[in-house]
Amino acid sequence: MAQLWGGRFTKSTDQMVYDFNASISFDKKLFAQDVRGSRAHVKMLASVGVITDDERDQILAGLDSIENDVNSGALEITSEYEDVHSFVEANLIDRIGDAGKKLHTGRSRNDQVALDMRLYTRDQVDATSQALTHLLQTILGIMEEHIDTIMPGFTHLQKAQPITLAHHMGAYFEMFRRDVLRLSDIRVRMNYCPLGSGALAGTTYPLNRDMTAELLEFDGPTLNSMDGVSDRDYLIEFLSALATIQMHLSRFSEEVIIWNSNEYRFVEIDDAYSTGSSIMPQKKNPDIAELVRGKTGRVYGALTSLLTTMKGIPLAYNKDMQEDKEMAFDAMETVQNCIVLFDGMLATMTFNKEVMAESAKKGFTNATDAADYLVNRGVPFRDAHGIIGQLVLYCIDRDKSIDELSLEELKAISPVFEEDIYDSISMETCVNKRLTTGAPGHDAMIGEINACKEFLNSL
Ligand code: ARG
Repeated sequence: MAQLWGGRFTKSTDQMVYDFNASISFDKKLFAQDVRGSRAHVKMLASVGVITDDERDQILAGLDSIENDVNSGALEITSEYEDVHSFVEANLIDRIGDAGKKLHTGRSRNDQVALDMRLYTRDQVDATSQALTHLLQTILGIMEEHIDTIMPGFTHLQKAQPITLAHHMGAYFEMFRRDVLRLSDIRVRMNYCPLGSGALAGTTYPLNRDMTAELLEFDGPTLNSMDGVSDRDYLIEFLSALATIQMHLSRFSEEVIIWNSNEYRFVEIDDAYSTGSSIMPQKKNPDIAELVRGKTGRVYGALTSLLTTMKGIPLAYNKDMQEDKEMAFDAMETVQNCIVLFDGMLATMTFNKEVMAESAKKGFTNATDAADYLVNRGVPFRDAHGIIGQLVLYCIDRDKSIDELSLEELKAISPVFEEDIYDSISMETCVNKRLTTGAPGHDAMIGEINACKEFLNSL
């Protein structure tokens, strides 16, 4: 048990209490951030004359050597210490003696951990954004390749109107685009440095908080020391953004699973991204998509957990806040892994164009366009809707699609039909006449794709 605070105690901590209280098993993830924060802190302490330049240099050299040894594996972060902050400080004192005892001047573990967590989260925000950008590139590639690949669009999981694969992919581009933008909003709001808040009430040392903030690439110091140590809003925002990303991935996964099913056969997932069954030799299962969908629960759990932890905490720091870490770390890692794996699966997936086109044709997806045909020839829309409804019923009875009927059959239902009906309700016409901004028609899609490209270039 290596503790920083033994002085006022007459008994040693009960072992179970020690273990319950300790956080090193998970906050060791913050080692790099802890050392980075300490470097900035001692540089600032020397600049305002609280420690000498020589002490600063000794501490910096000590921190370097600890970091090198941890990175090389020569020094292990073990449960002998209460938390990562104690680990660094104890090792520093071991290595450089008295100067090491000055590292914690004008600092509390409360503002230290607030800083470490913020630095760690900021790195994760950036890494998540990068992974999403790569996924957006993959999606854009599919959009460019499949601008004329016709497929059915669904509502209620019932075939509705023909769209293109590019159009369908474009919907996901929008979702992940918003996710990237959300992350950059969060980054702006969170980018203030809590170090210097002390335990809760600042310190009596003449700390230069602007300098520390700048050294750590923040836009400035946090403005209230009580809030500085007890704010976890940025983490809640990030977990909320992660939950949204995961929700998007989960919806996409659900579609891939449906498209990959024996009944649909719209796509074939690459062997490298599928798994087999231990008993059924014929099986090739979409496990990656299912796992991405399944992992959504733990990501939502992390958000709910932190919101619940924070809701009853009086100002300022309380130990409850140590619970901000494990599930948050898990959510960060889970979402990044899911993005990367989903991206790989999508990039290697084959789309069965013929099956998709055939499916679009078979589901009366041109019924709206057939009604519009009548409307354009003077039939009121409500009547046209009724006529086409009858037509669909007639087709269902004969297991035919609308365009498989003869002109006589069509005319028997409405004399308004002429030879040009066939062209008017072909899948290609149905799609390409939809040219409003955001619609699947070829020319509208070119506009959408160009806007997507511009977005990626702007990042
Ligand atoms: N391990 C603690 C945490 O993660 C560090 C802060 C401890 N501060 C304290 N006053 N006990 O929140």
